[in-house]
Amino acid sequence: MSKVVAVIGCGRIANAAHLPALSQLEDVRIKYACDIIEEKAVKAKDAFPKIENVITDYKVALADKEVDAVFVCTPNYSHYTVTMDAIKAGKHVLCEKPITINYKLSKEMADAANAAGVMLNIGVCNRHNRSIELLEQYNREGKFGKIYHVVCTFRKFRSIPGLGGAFTTKAESGGGVLIDWGIHFLDLVLYILGGAKLKTVTCDAYCEMAKNMKDYKYTYMWSEDTSDVENGTNDVDDFISGYVRTDKANISFNGAWAQNVNEDEMYVDICGDKGGARLSYRGQFKFSDAATLETYTTEHEIPDMYFCEDKAFIEAITTGVKDKSHIDYVLESAKLLDALYQSADKKEEISF
Ligand SMILES: NC(=O)c1ccc[n+]([C@@H]2O[C@H](COP(=O)([O-])OP(=O)(O)OC[C@H]3O[C@@H](n4cnc5c(N)ncnc54)[C@H](O)[C@@H]3O)[C@@H](O)[C@H]2O)c1
Repeated sequence: MSKVVAVIGCGRIANAAHLPALSQLEDVRIKYACDIIEEKAVKAKDAFPKIENVITDYKVALADKEVDAVFVCTPNYSHYTVTMDAIKAGKHVLCEKPITINYKLSKEMADAANAAGVMLNIGVCNRHNRSIELLEQYNREGKFGKIYHVVCTFRKFRSIPGLGGAFTTKAESGGGVLIDWGIHFLDLVLYILGGAKLKTVTCDAYCEMAKNMKDYKYTYMWSEDTSDVENGTNDVDDFISGYVRTDKANISFNGAWAQNVNEDEMYVDICGDKGGARLSYRGQFKFSDAATLETYTTEHEIPDMYFCEDKAFIEAITTGVKDKSHIDYVLESAKLLDALYQSADKKEEISF
């Protein structure tokens, strides 16, 4: 039988990822598209004819007994409220990343979903990326030997989103480049390592590039429609640097939404004693074998990870079996983010 879903929040991620994916999934009905800005929901319905109804109050979808699941695609701060309301209404939820703005609320969401017996998946889409799946498999097969260190770089020249709006207001986003991009990198590393016990973290966060918002020069700003340079806030990290010790590999990272270095670098280096890899973020990876000195670039197909993510969620709510994006397996990443921000605030190392 078809699963009936509602998509709440019809912004970038809904239009770029979930609505296309859900439109392709044969056993899914999109009964509602909801946005507080009605035009955005109407525009989504025009672009995705599978949408049956447009609403501006998500509680309409929650009150509909036919609806099995909702996709929460609203800004970070509202993930908690919308998801908790959906859980109370007995709906399964796929909530976009980050879980929400801090670990405490994230844990409450996990506990509530588990107590209610509904699925709560998080949009850690990279776990469904074929390259990441293969790297996780390489690790399980011992191709890296002992992974002792992982380096993550997620730095761009000019990429602060919606300056002055929800993305750059800590109370609404939970943070800047670390919670927005860093979560993807740190989560995929923890996934590839097969889970790792966190030991200590240290981190520095900077808000330098648009500290005077009106003086920030850029060529392109994503989410510019939510920007509010005149009256808004920018109190989040545009550059972040940190070090994470675990019982498996240690992780070092640098991230920039903006920096005065005109190089965009998005990669993960996995250093093992038998082999290593450089993953081009969302692309292929290059593997080097220490025994043969052979280095090859993988050329596997990379299916749309959002389609795979949504398909896995629909399967999970159909079978009742938690999949790898279930909040239980993502909470550790939220705990890590909290500790990193705490370290940056206190300017000291944090132990778990
Ligand atoms: N997984 C990924 O790769 C990825 C990529 C981009 C964004 N995201 C996440 O998706 C979320 C949304 O990001 P975005 O870039 O699409 O933002 P966006 O601002 O483009 O879209 C958010 C939409 O939610 C609507 N909205 C806000 N509150 C609402 C409510 N209570 N009810 C209904 N609609 C509401 C807004 O009007 C807006 O249209 C964020 O949490 C972000 O971190 C994930």
